[in-house]
Amino acid sequence: MGTGSGIVALFFLLSPSVCIGSPAQIDPLVYEEQLLWVSGVQGEVNTFRIPLITFTPKGSLLAFTEARKFSSSDIGAKFLAMRRSTDKGNTWSPTAFIVDDVSHPNGLNLGSVVVDEDVGSVILIYSLCFHLYHCSPASTMMVESLDDGLSWSRPRNLSVQLGVKEFAPGPGLGIQKKHHPAKGRLVVCGHGTIEGDGVFCILSDDHGKNWYNGAALKSIPYNQPKKALDFNPDECQPVELPNGSIMINVRNQNNYHCRCRIVVRSLDGGLTLPVDELFFDYNLVDPVVAAGALQKNGVLYFINPSNEKQRVNLTLQWSLTNGSSWEKKALQIWHGPSGYSCITSLNSSSVEDKKFIFAIYEKGHSSYWETISFVKIHLYGGR
Ligand SMILES: *[C@@H]1O[C@H](CO)[C@@H](O)[C@H](O)[C@H]1NC(C)=O
Ligand SMILES: *[C@@H]1O[C@H](CO)[C@@H](O)[C@H](O)[C@H]1NC(C)=O
Ligand SMILES: *[C@@H]1O[C@H](CO)[C@@H](O)[C@H](O)[C@H]1NC(C)=O
Ligand SMILES: *[C@@H]1O[C@H](CO)[C@@H](O)[C@H](O)[C@H]1NC(C)=O
Ligand SMILES: *[C@@H]1O[C@H](CO)[C@@H](O)[C@H](O)[C@H]1NC(C)=O
Repeated sequence: MGTGSGIVALFFLLSPSVCIGSPAQIDPLVYEEQLLWVSGVQGEVNTFRIPLITFTPKGSLLAFTEARKFSSSDIGAKFLAMRRSTDKGNTWSPTAFIVDDVSHPNGLNLGSVVVDEDVGSVILIYSLCFHLYHCSPASTMMVESLDDGLSWSRPRNLSVQLGVKEFAPGPGLGIQKKHHPAKGRLVVCGHGTIEGDGVFCILSDDHGKNWYNGAALKSIPYNQPKKALDFNPDECQPVELPNGSIMINVRNQNNYHCRCRIVVRSLDGGLTLPVDELFFDYNLVDPVVAAGALQKNGVLYFINPSNEKQRVNLTLQWSLTNGSSWEKKALQIWHGPSGYSCITSLNSSSVEDKKFIFAIYEKGHSSYWETISFVKIHLYGGR
């Protein structure tokens, strides 16, 4: 038998490597939280909605949101707002308005952000005139930053290549394939109109110069009015699994089969979404909302307002089995009204970056569109 002090010394030597980087040891806690945008009080913006957050190749964090000028409605004129953090979320730049649709009757809707690590670019894709409200046709638009989010290109009209079918990217993150098949490809998935709904992916094999239409998982009945409980896959978040397959976590618009998330996989880099690869994840209860997902160091994370009926109870869940089961323990981030959310992480070999993930979400007291909140989550904080 060893002495007591020997055991203590051994524990201190071993505990950092046991805690950090071991999926089984994950026990997340909120490390810090900041409100990045507050509706109704900042500038001349009525409502901030639809938050996105991404890492950059240089290790910064970029947060984006729609700044709705005159009302909280999805339609109407907006700015595309951004804040930037170069110190892992501790401090944030003032808001920059990187796109202004002026007084468009059916202005921009976010959107997906995708990072191309091969060329170091950050690409933001959004729609214009998605609801065809006093305008036509709908357009899929792109802006790009080559300097870590400091400056942005003028908007480019991707509908010239993709066609003018209504396409609402994300909202969330696009991915760049890190594994075969189609290593290096940019994959951005989104949805169509409520009638012509479904999950649709657009792809680029040349770092965003040319885009083409990839996989489609159509609603049933397609292009026809829907009824309650129809199959109607909607807003979605793709994630690449370690074996190169893409798992897409999807909003189940009409509660087909369950009040839970639809999951569908692409085994060919986003070209197809076979029905054989579709299932309903009963563990991921959902009130019909856009949610976030992330794969980091072999662990799959999922964030949403975890409630069957209401957008409340923003919760982080994690899976050690590529999404075939979820750990019983979950982290409640906010008990109250909470809406759309997005998660990202920094990917370096540093111990620090292995410890944290970052989320952004719609948060409020009486309604979820009161603020956009950023949370830095310590994955081993509970230990
Ligand atoms: C984008 O391109 C499409 C196809 O050429 C065109 O119909 C549409 O008007 C363009 N949208 C904008 C905003 O320029
Ligand atoms: C990749 O992994 C997922 C999840 O474990 C699995 O369902 C899928 O069949 C695998 N795909 C391939 C092509 O091996
Ligand atoms: C919050 O989410 C957790 C995890 O899904 C669930 O166990 C709990 O019942 C939820 N609470 C409410 C009030 O929805
Ligand atoms: C998750 O996927 C990876 C890569 O395909 C595989 O090595 C691992 O065994 C999978 N884990 C489980 C529990 O299926
Ligand atoms: C993370 O970084 C490593 C090393 O730089 C790289 O090989 C890997 O592809 C990156 N993964 C992701 C998901 O960015």
